[in-house]
Amino acid sequence: MNLTLKIWRQKDAAAKGKLQTYPISEVDPDMSFLEMLDVLNEGLVNNGEEPVVFDHDCREGICGTCSLQINGEPHGPDRLITTCQLHMRKFKDGDTIIIEPFRARAFPVIKDLVVDRSAFERIQQAGGYVSVNTSGLTQDANAIPIPKEDADAAFFSASCISCGACVAACKNASAMLFTAARVSQFALLPQGKVEATSRVLAMVEQMDKEGFGNCTNTGACEIECPKGISLENIARMNREYMKASVI
Ligand code: SF4
Ligand code: FES
Repeated sequence: MNLTLKIWRQKDAAAKGKLQTYPISEVDPDMSFLEMLDVLNEGLVNNGEEPVVFDHDCREGICGTCSLQINGEPHGPDRLITTCQLHMRKFKDGDTIIIEPFRARAFPVIKDLVVDRSAFERIQQAGGYVSVNTSGLTQDANAIPIPKEDADAAFFSASCISCGACVAACKNASAMLFTAARVSQFALLPQGKVEATSRVLAMVEQMDKEGFGNCTNTGACEIECPKGISLENIARMNREYMKASVI
């Protein structure tokens, strides 16, 4: 396949970026999207040019770092996969592909396609944990019976990989789906209920402080989420927040 790539190049956080055009040939349809970028970078390095900087780690849909906006969609045209799981067979010979970083005020661009998503970590640190005394006298978690439906729902919420696609997909750059998944994974389990009130208030406060927009229920986040995190999580977080606000 021969393709034309239009890639966002930005020297550093302060620089003004722009789309730069790169023709690429002999792309194997079975290559992953990141392998295709590796091939591009090899060519750039061989020509003495600066390679395109992009984030990646596991390359198997687990770590959530490979955040690319491909033809206007976070993680590209496929559903329920991350950028590293996207294959070039999803595109046609002769296509032009526009590759940009995730766009949101709370995710500033560091360089080229890499954004700073530490805002997510600060939301998590505000309350996304349970306080457990690990003195050795801790009760075995398996000794607390949990209804299967609750365990399954908590597990599903916990499958969020903090990629940020929900923010990039949202016209308000809202982080509600991410925050709601983190609140839900604890709210559904007895161990998480102890700190439920302080957790939801602190995480929502931090989310607002980071400059994410509000949720207007458009649902774009759920559609683009590579892990299929559902809007039900947002409804659950809103209920948790209401409860915590009146206690
Ligand atoms: S909710 Fe989905 S899209 Fe948002 S950070 Fe988690 S995995 Fe990524
Ligand atoms: S590189 Fe880890 S999810 Fe894509």
